[in-house]
Amino acid sequence: MAEAKVLVIGGGGREHALCWKLSDSPFVKQIYCAPGSVGISATNKVESVDIDIKDYPALAKWSKDHSIDLVIVGPEDPLANGIVDALTPHGIKCFGPTKAGAEIEANKEWSKKFMNKYQIPTARFQSFTNADAAKEFINSAPYPALVVKASGLAAGKGVVVASNKEEACHAVDEILTDAKYGAAGQTLVVEELLEGDEVSVLAFTDGETVSIMPPAQDHKRIGDGDTGPNTGGMGAYCPCPLITPDQLADVKDQVLKRAVDGLKAEGVKYVGVLYAGLMITKSGPMVLEFNCRFGDPETQVLMMLLESDLYTVMKACVDGTLNQLQVTWNTRLSAVGVVIASKGYPETSTKGCVISGLSQASSTPGVVVFHSGVSRGANGSLVTWGGRVLLAAARAGSLRAAAAAATAAAEGIDFPGKQYRKDIAHRAFSNMQSLGQ
Ligand code: AMP
Ligand code: GLY
Repeated sequence: MAEAKVLVIGGGGREHALCWKLSDSPFVKQIYCAPGSVGISATNKVESVDIDIKDYPALAKWSKDHSIDLVIVGPEDPLANGIVDALTPHGIKCFGPTKAGAEIEANKEWSKKFMNKYQIPTARFQSFTNADAAKEFINSAPYPALVVKASGLAAGKGVVVASNKEEACHAVDEILTDAKYGAAGQTLVVEELLEGDEVSVLAFTDGETVSIMPPAQDHKRIGDGDTGPNTGGMGAYCPCPLITPDQLADVKDQVLKRAVDGLKAEGVKYVGVLYAGLMITKSGPMVLEFNCRFGDPETQVLMMLLESDLYTVMKACVDGTLNQLQVTWNTRLSAVGVVIASKGYPETSTKGCVISGLSQASSTPGVVVFHSGVSRGANGSLVTWGGRVLLAAARAGSLRAAAAAATAAAEGIDFPGKQYRKDIAHRAFSNMQSLGQ
């Protein structure tokens, strides 16, 4: 039965979670991960491979030589660079959109125009390549035009949520005049400031059918109480109660399905995961951004709740048979993930600090520890290797129990200068409290 060989592209916590879930599949014999990581290699059936994932002809040859049945692309950069377009002509099946599909994340100006064209609810905006014109607009816009974004991919940076017009104009100078984000900031988008709770709704799609995942919430700020600078994400939980079942149904129809249909109308068959980053405003959910891939750290908690076989779901997306599959999620449990980051993150990161307490945390029932930035030190010990180092995830019968277990697991893992939040899911708890739950 277990015959399939898959290659996962990437090496962070998200890819660790994908490999962890794929390793459960009775249909999967071997998982390769490039570049992978120490933690990924320790997963059953998984081998990290050192191949150049930017050399597409070499990657195609490697995949053919190893009889790879499915390539699964984790991060946005290879998708935006056309990895799927390069491998598909060699007869290699890929889970992830083509370069044209990845535009929905990689080109914010295009994405916002696309949303307007297909009536997908999003903040009002204007795009600019000229700094004076952008500043004039900020100073005279009929709405609080305070969010300034570099249009291209800027590794999760390049978005300034300004508190006043001066700050917004300063961001225009940084992005357009000083080229702080290089080519990614040659065009910028100035957007209406939206208020509300942020929720991530991801969906599997084969380009026709959309199967949504339970809603999750990321925690972007470094500090407890959502304070301090933005990061790549300091923790996540799922399911998130800050979006109602009716709103979720609207997001499926009026955001995700509309986007997949819109892409099809534009000549793009979108296969893979489409991620809607939403603001739940007083007038309903509005799209802040689309991502063309799984989120990190949302994936770590989502995979802990996915009941269906991940390989079967991905294969149905690639084969165009998602309409024949019921993707099921564990609705009795909740999952919470707490990121453990290194000293100085997000401005800087520290490498080489010895990590302790990992095996004890990992052997706690209900807890899984995913590796984001970990390497092996000279004496064989595990050491920090980047900004976000680990994510301690826990699954339990209630959100509160899962949060307590994940936070306790994060507490038990140690290295000099570690940072982690002790309040993951706090917005859910405030909401539950206000509802008397
Ligand atoms: P993006 O990469 O476009 O999702 O932006 C990154 C972050 O900036 C989001 O997760 C929000 O926290 C914030 N943000 C983006 N757009 C807006 C907006 N229009 N109003 C308020 N906050 C925003
Ligand atoms: N969790 C945010 C992202 O993956 O972009």
